Amino acid sequence: MKDFKRYMVTSALPYANGPIHIGHLAGVYVPADIYVRYLRLRGKDVVFVGGSDEHGVPITITARKEGITPQEVVDRYHALIRDAFERFGISFDVYSRTTSKIHHRTASEFFGTLYEKGDFVEKETEQYYDTEAQQFLADRYITGTCPHCRNEHAYGDQCEQCGTSLNVTDLIHPRSTLSGSAPVLRATKHWYLPLDRYETFLREWILEGHREWKSNVYGQCKSWLDSGLQPRAVTRDLDWGIPVPVAGAEGKVLYVWFDAPIGYISNTRELLPDTWQDYWKSDDSCLVHFIGKDNIVFHCIIFPAMLKAEGSYILPHNVPANEFLNLENEKISTSRNWAVWLHEYLNDFPGKEDVLRYVLTANAPETKDNNFTWKDFQDRNNNELVAIYGNFVHRAMVLAHKYFGGTVPARDRLTDVDRATLSAIAGIRKNVENAIENCRFREALKEAMTLARTGNKYLADTEPWKLIKTDETRVKTILNIALQIAAGTALLFEPFLPFASARLRNMLRLPAATWEDLGGSDLLAAGHRLNEPELLFEKIEDEAVEKQLRRLVDIKIANERQAYKAIPAKNDVSFDEFSAMDIRIGTVLEAEKVPKTDKLMRLLVDTGIDRRTIVSGIAEHFTPEELTGKQVSVLVNLTPRTLKGIVSQGMILLAEDAGGKLVFVAPENAVVNGATVR
Ligand code: 2FM
Ligand code: ZN
Repeated sequence: MKDFKRYMVTSALPYANGPIHIGHLAGVYVPADIYVRYLRLRGKDVVFVGGSDEHGVPITITARKEGITPQEVVDRYHALIRDAFERFGISFDVYSRTTSKIHHRTASEFFGTLYEKGDFVEKETEQYYDTEAQQFLADRYITGTCPHCRNEHAYGDQCEQCGTSLNVTDLIHPRSTLSGSAPVLRATKHWYLPLDRYETFLREWILEGHREWKSNVYGQCKSWLDSGLQPRAVTRDLDWGIPVPVAGAEGKVLYVWFDAPIGYISNTRELLPDTWQDYWKSDDSCLVHFIGKDNIVFHCIIFPAMLKAEGSYILPHNVPANEFLNLENEKISTSRNWAVWLHEYLNDFPGKEDVLRYVLTANAPETKDNNFTWKDFQDRNNNELVAIYGNFVHRAMVLAHKYFGGTVPARDRLTDVDRATLSAIAGIRKNVENAIENCRFREALKEAMTLARTGNKYLADTEPWKLIKTDETRVKTILNIALQIAAGTALLFEPFLPFASARLRNMLRLPAATWEDLGGSDLLAAGHRLNEPELLFEKIEDEAVEKQLRRLVDIKIANERQAYKAIPAKNDVSFDEFSAMDIRIGTVLEAEKVPKTDKLMRLLVDTGIDRRTIVSGIAEHFTPEELTGKQVSVLVNLTPRTLKGIVSQGMILLAEDAGGKLVFVAPENAVVNGATVR
């Protein structure tokens, strides 16, 4: 890794328009935090910037829906998000917001500089205007009929039914969601950043100069550049945002994607009013942006073009964007509530922040989309954190207390195994360094776990508990080495599992050791007193995971119900036709699957009139045990039919829920068999 004098590490500013979930954490914030904690451990000068992105149209839509102001929306979510980050140990040096005064000033000045230099192109275009509400309409404020699938509720930028991206003028019968009236096209002036002018520079800087960037990032940049860059509007007609600081631009604000990345600068400026420029304008500073894949174009093309245009800033050294995380094999979706929300996780798994950090790193979507499952979460906790890391540390601590009163025993003569074990530390350290510096955090974590495995294996191979009666000197050596390894894990895991490392450092009374001490001389001197052992991790029981899975099933059902469209009504029937159907309550006496079929179940039903056989296509939905003893509604005068050689005398009535789940139509309370249904 090239050594820089300073490091400026940013993480995407999340929209303060809803809580954040595990996808955000896995994609951006945990990797950024690992990187930063590592740099700090190595004694580097680093500033880690975060903050909330508080402008943009969706926030105004939330506000309108809830009948509150945009400021109230962002106040609520900014606090929620900031607290969640803090509780997960995301160690920002500053977490501010784009509604701050200093940000408005910084972004405004930035625009002003480019404006003065003539870096923008002014263009007049026609945009939809609501004459009743007297304002221009963002695409999201217009609905109409999708030209592709005829969905009547498509948005101006996208049809959610068929997924097509739309131009607002594609909509058939457009309507303003503000007043319901038909919008009219009206001329409006905007400022454009002529990205086409930066194409040559960007091609050279990225495609030639940064071949080492992650392939997903490099590939996306190349495809943008290859399809040719167009001027981009950086202003909007909107009443929420940073006013465009130009005469005649009343009612216009900076486009949210123009001001948001400047937020990184504003927040640094808020933290370091006197020295922020060292981090942003000096060639010996290293700028790294942690983002998700949907932000690549903004951080690799548009923001660098803005910085280049301004002229006094450095450009990013690396943009290690991640792909997306799925949840139980489905795309995480805020609108469908298909997510694990951080504030909910913290309530359900208090004290287990590191477990989630661990699982999200082990499964990070570094090179392709990846999947989070609750089963994997439980397995990784129980089989890796508890069984390997926690178990090793606990054994070493307990034995040191049991045999040597809680002090580090002195080492004697070393065997080959001892020497090999001790020298493994330096090698593992190198591998972790190399992986972290290249933003391969999954690999780095796996390597760190190798040290815990090494410790575990060492104790298993040397079996000090067997030797203690015969060779105390040897046991002293073994435990000394085991404790050196335990101390090594405290350092090595610190970027990944900061809470566990703090507890382990406390147990070992190892406050001051730094990364540089790792793998060199001993971390713990002979005679050093240890604190009492405590468990680093606890087993996660099946019930906890089942509860989460049930929650997801409930969400799925709720979503299916919401999306359910009832089939249209059938033709009318007369009362006599209805009365001709003889529906009775009966009880299932016996049930068995019809052999060699998937769907059919043979039932023996007491209808009150008689006992009869009915064949029903429900075998994929119920087991025979679930059916026996159940009261059901039966159409008893249906003409008998023969199914798979069995004569079926009647039909059981069932309702089909959204999602295809079958539910019996049965009396609310038990009634006598043969009771009529009318
Ligand atoms: O995609 C998002 O959530 C944006 N709010 C990220 C902004 S990153 C930066 F530019 F501020
Ligand atoms: Zn459509």
